[in-house]
Amino acid sequence: MYDKEKFLGNSDYSKDIEFHLHSYTHPQTLEDEGPHILSKGDGIYVYDETGKRFIEGMSGLWCTSLGFSEKELVDTISEQLKKLPYYHSFAGKTANPAINLAEHLIKISPVPMSKVYFANSGSEANDSAIKMIWYYNLARGLPEKRKIISRKKGYHGVTLAAASLTGLPYAQNGFSLPLEFVRHTMTPDYFNEANKNESEEQFSDRLASELEDLILKEGPETVAAFFAEPVMGAGGVIIPPKSYFPKVQKVLEKYDVLLVADEVICGFGRTGNMWGSETFNIRPDIVTAAKALSSAYLPISAVIISEKVYGPIKDQANELGIFGHGYTYSAHPVCAAVAMKAQQIMIDRNIIANVKQLSKLFSERIQNIKNNSWFLSHSRSVGLIGAVEFGYEGNKKFDIKNKIAAKCAKIIQENGVILRALPGDIIGFCPPLIIKEKQINEMFDKIDIAFKSFDEMAIHLK
Ligand SMILES: Cc1ncc(COP(=O)(O)O)c(C=O)c1O
Repeated sequence: MYDKEKFLGNSDYSKDIEFHLHSYTHPQTLEDEGPHILSKGDGIYVYDETGKRFIEGMSGLWCTSLGFSEKELVDTISEQLKKLPYYHSFAGKTANPAINLAEHLIKISPVPMSKVYFANSGSEANDSAIKMIWYYNLARGLPEKRKIISRKKGYHGVTLAAASLTGLPYAQNGFSLPLEFVRHTMTPDYFNEANKNESEEQFSDRLASELEDLILKEGPETVAAFFAEPVMGAGGVIIPPKSYFPKVQKVLEKYDVLLVADEVICGFGRTGNMWGSETFNIRPDIVTAAKALSSAYLPISAVIISEKVYGPIKDQANELGIFGHGYTYSAHPVCAAVAMKAQQIMIDRNIIANVKQLSKLFSERIQNIKNNSWFLSHSRSVGLIGAVEFGYEGNKKFDIKNKIAAKCAKIIQENGVILRALPGDIIGFCPPLIIKEKQINEMFDKIDIAFKSFDEMAIHLK
């Protein structure tokens, strides 16, 4: 039982502790410290209920790319609510916002695509993609071809199937996951996983050949698809070598294994192009997208499928009488309208050009933190996503029990920037894409002060 006395002055704290089971939260810490209640947003800033202002250096959960007070998005939501607050996409029904958004996504997709399916979250998009892949293979008379390969440290969500694809123990421990159809292959983490004197090219060759061995061991007739984030986000902002995806893709094509690009974080400008697939030379059969699709103002996600995948799905559905999949809120008109507006703003305000222009400064400031901190071993970034990794004397790791990254992220937050500690003692950076040069400097000036003050503490955490 939590200490009620401690929170007597703030009834919201007590209510939250008493009634709300939080996502990804340590329950005892919540009971001991209470929640952090945010109450207002303005551009790249958010304010908590004490009035303290923070730069949201993670865009919430890698998602609010257009910031926290975009009036055009709010107006779009309110107009659509007045016009048609809800409709569904079952039995051939739909509403105009979903039609326009589907057309737009096909127009901007990284490779020629055929159809868009709408869901409500990244997890649901990935679950839907798996079901479609199974449906597709059944339609092709390949009922055994069901196994899905993802990567260790990959993050694909938390529903039963998506959590199984996720290659992070914290999403699986205690849930008896992963489910039996999932296999995990190596992470393209050159900094930590490369052998001594191995070039990036050789490293990519090794990973592609390990993937091929896994497919052969399982039997190619049982392997349906490979899911990958262009840049692995929650697993530690792991940026693959340029040669990685082309080599992996060759292996997948050889064994008739579909490639699903999970663009839930990378999609819509994050890496400096519209899609991570463009930045990393990926030619996906299916793309899943969410988050910045609507700048997170309302929940919506998309599964974008190629004609190669759609054709058999259509034939099978004709045979069975229906494509038997659908969420009540699929293609929700208000969510679709705000997503379309977010995409329009991306174009009208040249958001990707902003990302491209600021990525050099962003990368220099991240590198600078590393150069000035003996307790950091690596820094990396692409577009406006990056990370620093804790370690010393080359790549010696701190004892994970000391949670050095989490401790440092806490100090950074006290200094006015919200960031996130990731597994492997990594701190990620993922500011809203509307950030300006001056604000990047403001953000890193605050972070620099926090890292400096952390220097002494780090010595005791070795
Ligand atoms: C790459 C990736 N895929 C899927 C998901 C799951 O999305 P959601 O939390 O909307 O279910 C996330 C969430 O962070 C993600 O980063």
